[in-house]
Amino acid sequence: MIPRPFGSEQVPAFEESPSDALVVRHLYVHLPFCAHRCGYCDFVTVVGRRGQHAAYVDALLAELELERGLLAPELETVFLGGGTPTFTEPRELERLLAVLPDAAEVTVEANPETVTSALAALLRRHGVSRVSLGAQTFRPELLGVLDRVAGPDDVRRSFYHLRDAGFDNISLDLIYGIPGQRPSDLAADIEEALALRPEHLSCYELEAKPGTRFTHAHGEELRRQAEALEGYFESVVERLVAAGYRWYETANFCRAALADADGRDLRSRHNLAYWRGRDYLGLGIGAVSTIGGERWRTTPRLGPYLAALREDRLPPRELEPLPESVQREERVMLGLRLDEPLPVATVAGALDEKALARLERLGLAQLVPLGPQHARGALTLTPRGRLLGDAVTADLLA
Ligand SMILES: C[S@@+](CC[C@H](N)C(=O)[O-])C[C@H]1O[C@@H](n2cnc3c(N)ncnc32)[C@H](O)[C@@H]1O
Ligand code: SF4
Repeated sequence: MIPRPFGSEQVPAFEESPSDALVVRHLYVHLPFCAHRCGYCDFVTVVGRRGQHAAYVDALLAELELERGLLAPELETVFLGGGTPTFTEPRELERLLAVLPDAAEVTVEANPETVTSALAALLRRHGVSRVSLGAQTFRPELLGVLDRVAGPDDVRRSFYHLRDAGFDNISLDLIYGIPGQRPSDLAADIEEALALRPEHLSCYELEAKPGTRFTHAHGEELRRQAEALEGYFESVVERLVAAGYRWYETANFCRAALADADGRDLRSRHNLAYWRGRDYLGLGIGAVSTIGGERWRTTPRLGPYLAALREDRLPPRELEPLPESVQREERVMLGLRLDEPLPVATVAGALDEKALARLERLGLAQLVPLGPQHARGALTLTPRGRLLGDAVTADLLA
């Protein structure tokens, strides 16, 4: 039985921000460099190339200047993702952080083996307010399967370096469905993570891309794990909710406001912006931007990216128009991952009314009142609906 995490009546409704259409308040910066490539990873990464870190930061700063007009004078969030942002040459990371705009939330993704006390102090000194640490698992043999460099002690050590430097908002990433993983391994991983008392946890099911070396090496075992994923997901939600975490997004949990000594809202503000369909600007190779009904993805190739920005030209991009109908579908798909109700009026036309009535009868979705200005109220999935996730949402789309 999954305990009900938050009654929809307790959750503030999906807020509309009137300024969103005019200016962009969320900035993503991609730092692609990694010490090596982990077998399961499908992100845009560049192995090593320490000699190019300075040129890459120069290019990011040039791109920021070219795009600055899109950004609001005050940003809500900045997110440095990777790759391994903390593998970037410290001098270059520092130079970048010193120039990036301030924001209410500044997150940096970090790999445990890169976090020293000096690195933690550098991040703190430059206004980073939140660190997302890629633990993945605490089982040494499973870390080996994932080709991870860090051992379980590195994860703990890096966490304490961050705490000692003053970070009071740390997130841990865990992965489940790893070849060779047993339910007891996952249960132990969650306990190890909880023992650190992180403010936030992201728990992802392993996605293995067909045709990769990783999938060839672990094919049979990946199929076995796929059958266990539903059970893993339920056990993660059940344990973390019981430990006082708010299951605020399908794969994301934060210490509930009441459980946090200062009553803070510890959801990732940056990721909330994606899930709420806000506009955001992405800088760097492979970065995606969504602004004013258009989406573009910058080239994932380092050479052409650096060459363009050396000449103060925008780098090559793939442009994707986003018609209203697609934007509404995305709002349903992403918005229903959250535990906050989605005003039906904002997704009018995207919902299959018959499917909605059926899912309500089945206890998977529910309409909740939102006040006189929202005649149709708001839509939310029940905890059971959220466990079934995308299958329920896909059914809801007209
Ligand atoms: C963009 S990655 C980079 C973080 C960092 N370089 C690291 O490896 O810890 C952010 C998170 O995505 C998750 N992730 C990456 N590849 C994944 C995959 N194939 N399946 C599931 N989760 C994945 C991991 O939990 C990882 O910490
Ligand atoms: S360190 Fe992170 S980003 Fe780099 S290859 Fe490994 S999983 Fe991918």
